[in-house]
Amino acid sequence: MLDKLERLPADTILGLAAACRADPNPDKVDLTLGVYMDEQGLCPVFDAVRQAQQALVAEERTKVYMPPAGDEMFNLGMQRLVLGNDSPALRDKRVGSVQAPGGCGALRIGAEIIRAAAPDARVWVSDPTWPVHFPLLGSSGLKFETYRYYDPVSHGVDFDAMVTDLEQAREGDVVLLHGCCHNPCGADLAIEQWGVIAAMAQRQGFLPFVDFAYQGLGDGLEEDAAGLRLIVERVPEVIIAASCSKNMGLYRERTGIALFVCRDEANAQALVSQALVAARRIYSMPPAHGALLAGRILASDTLSASWRSELDAMCRRINGLRTALRHKLEEKSGRDFGFIEREKGMFSFLGLSPEQALRLRSERSVYMLDSSRINVAGVNARNIDYLAQAVASVL
Ligand SMILES: Cc1ncc(COP(=O)(O)O)c(C=O)c1O
Repeated sequence: MLDKLERLPADTILGLAAACRADPNPDKVDLTLGVYMDEQGLCPVFDAVRQAQQALVAEERTKVYMPPAGDEMFNLGMQRLVLGNDSPALRDKRVGSVQAPGGCGALRIGAEIIRAAAPDARVWVSDPTWPVHFPLLGSSGLKFETYRYYDPVSHGVDFDAMVTDLEQAREGDVVLLHGCCHNPCGADLAIEQWGVIAAMAQRQGFLPFVDFAYQGLGDGLEEDAAGLRLIVERVPEVIIAASCSKNMGLYRERTGIALFVCRDEANAQALVSQALVAARRIYSMPPAHGALLAGRILASDTLSASWRSELDAMCRRINGLRTALRHKLEEKSGRDFGFIEREKGMFSFLGLSPEQALRLRSERSVYMLDSSRINVAGVNARNIDYLAQAVASVL
């Protein structure tokens, strides 16, 4: 029976990263994966993570299963990190949460909750969105609609088009929003625009579902949460899928959380119970290691301060690279790349055609997605000139 199954193509992004690793060209540039890389091209372990890990290893007495909702210290720390220490929703105990295997696991748990509440819900996703949203949420049985979002001509958000499309979202529908650092385009909503979306959710009754995988990598931990917090302040029900993969560098530890902001405490508890049943159906218990580390970091003033300052340095480096890349590209090509500096987080589209992206790969060993999405954090002092020259050569 199994021999009927055909071999499937590798995931596009992972496949490109593997092709880059196998490329013998010493000048190759890897801008494929959504992973932070430092000046040496390495994805570093945060000092705070290393310290928390040493303490954990010294103290750990058991590897017994985690509680189904995950580590309590992690849940409480993450609720405050995402929603803010003074969040009225937290004060009113209207928030429930479960630890999940990464942001992906949290998105899937969110999808299961939506499916349980409204089996016919349509999930509105931005065009473009992170391609993994489709299999992740779609495998719960949810249907999709898209709303226009990125305008390749202005290299910014086409907000009028977004609003026009979302006017069709109705009660029982879900609108998936990128909390910050939009993947793949890097173009984020301004705070006034978050206000407009919140008013539409109130008026039309759709449920905002916020994918929050990059808190702290755009402008800072608090700044990046402003839009999401505004939605939570104005809309009675919101689901959030947050991740510690990027902002704590815990990628392989699969550390995420699904947060449910509800109308009241009883409903928040009901949603947690639903999430636990959904988790039991899929993976039973969340993994321990990453959440135990993140929980410790968030609960300790010293570790927290160290983590925040390292994250802040990462954020400043990304924004510095954005400025440097903009100027280098403009210098080499004579064209306007100002949008790179305006966009946020690790991703931007360079605005190349798939043919140009392909030529960069085959002729110059510069690896980016066919859409010309680049990971800005893959740029460094050693490759920036080569990269800008290569891009200019295919324009
Ligand atoms: C937009 C978006 N959402 C969610 C995630 C989930 O990340 P993870 O499952 O690694 O925490 C990612 C990771 O790349 C992402 O880009």
